[in-house]
Amino acid sequence: MDQFLVPSVSKPLDGEVEISGAKNAVLAVMAAALLADGVSEITNVPHLKDMKTMSDVLRIIGCRIGGGSHELRIDTRGADHLEAPYELVKTMRASFYVLGPLVARFGRCRVSLPGGCAWGPRPVDLHLKGLEALGAKVTVTHGYVEATCEGRLKGGTFHFPVSSVGATVNVLMAATLAEGESVLQNAALEPEIDNLVDYLIGMGANIQGRGTRTLVVQGVEKLNPGKGRTIPDRIEAGSFLCGAAITKGRVKVTNMDPVHIAAVLDVFRDMGCKVSTGSDWAEVDARGVELKPVSVTTLPFPGFPTDLQAPLMATLMAVPGISVIQDTIYNDRFTHIAELKRLGADIQLVGNTATIHGGKPLESANIMASDLRASAALVLAGLIAEGETTIDRIYHLDRGYEDFEAKMAALGATVKRVRPGMEG
Ligand code: EPZ
Repeated sequence: MDQFLVPSVSKPLDGEVEISGAKNAVLAVMAAALLADGVSEITNVPHLKDMKTMSDVLRIIGCRIGGGSHELRIDTRGADHLEAPYELVKTMRASFYVLGPLVARFGRCRVSLPGGCAWGPRPVDLHLKGLEALGAKVTVTHGYVEATCEGRLKGGTFHFPVSSVGATVNVLMAATLAEGESVLQNAALEPEIDNLVDYLIGMGANIQGRGTRTLVVQGVEKLNPGKGRTIPDRIEAGSFLCGAAITKGRVKVTNMDPVHIAAVLDVFRDMGCKVSTGSDWAEVDARGVELKPVSVTTLPFPGFPTDLQAPLMATLMAVPGISVIQDTIYNDRFTHIAELKRLGADIQLVGNTATIHGGKPLESANIMASDLRASAALVLAGLIAEGETTIDRIYHLDRGYEDFEAKMAALGATVKRVRPGMEG
């Protein structure tokens, strides 16, 4: 398995990075292609492992996947095997997004439950309850969800008790082909949902309430193949901006939307960084700044995103004083703390709240990535840990950060990928 070698930086990061398309937006739109018979196109697609995994799921269903650099062409005319197997779904939870489109379009499907992930239970009960509200008959047997409906789904009203990106994605897609009106209340507000709404409307869906917590869908009998450009990846942008704060340098991220990370930019301001933005860029300048500790709580969009909780925690290790991070989305998304402690981090975790005693010297060690966003946090910490840090299992990072080493090099950091046993 590949490792990263991350030497401590000899000088603060200083540079510019172009942000790739948002993985989590592409995954939803790839599933949406199943709602129509024909060739759907998606552009600004990052070259990431998750795109390959979702392509494999669609191929098993019978689709043909093609496309040039950073784009996908999904031909669903061969879709006839209405199943997503455990072997694939267990490797990537978003494979579960095929459930809504398949039952809405074909009236039946069998999709493996996602199973666990690096942190806590990640239930799908709201996905299932939402589809039942549209008339689907849902049973769970032997680790698989079987969903059927007589004829078309029927429009209905569903209130999400918690804001759920995935459940909103699945139920919204199903509602576009249901008979009659569906009302989704307390729908997620993440930009990836707007991206999906735009794509679905381009396919011929009738959706009102874009950007609000109430989506009203007038179902249609048929949708046409879609075509759309993917929004930039707000989590990638925030991760690289953390590099400016942790090394007291300056990072500019381009080809992104600063509105998507407004809460994140506010935290950098609270830390004392100089933050500037334009229509499609943002810059954090921490040069010569006395960074101040902060207290942050993760929230659904537009709040501070849970996906940047780990990268921020690493950043706060460089900030003298006591900072606090509470993750209200996932109470146990803290597997990175044990690894950061191997670098000398002073972090206490009580329940879903971590207290970081920052500003203490860190030293390199061998550490291990546990999930996608934690792996970015470990690289950030390695930039300021004295010596060269070795990070195992960086296949996690390859799921969500395109051309990572090259982008870090553009900022002045040397992150080297090695394959143990292949030296020489
Ligand atoms: C999406 O996951 C993202 N994944 C995650 O990013 C992200 O961390 C998460 O949203 C929160 O923003 C993709 O978009 C592919 P949720 P998702 O449903 O949809 C509870 C990454 O690093 N819940 O919004 O699975 C759940 O337990 C990944 O790119 C239920 O109770 O998250 C959590 O507390 C990691 N029942 C809250 O809702 C359900 O049926 C939010 O989860 C579904 C969710």
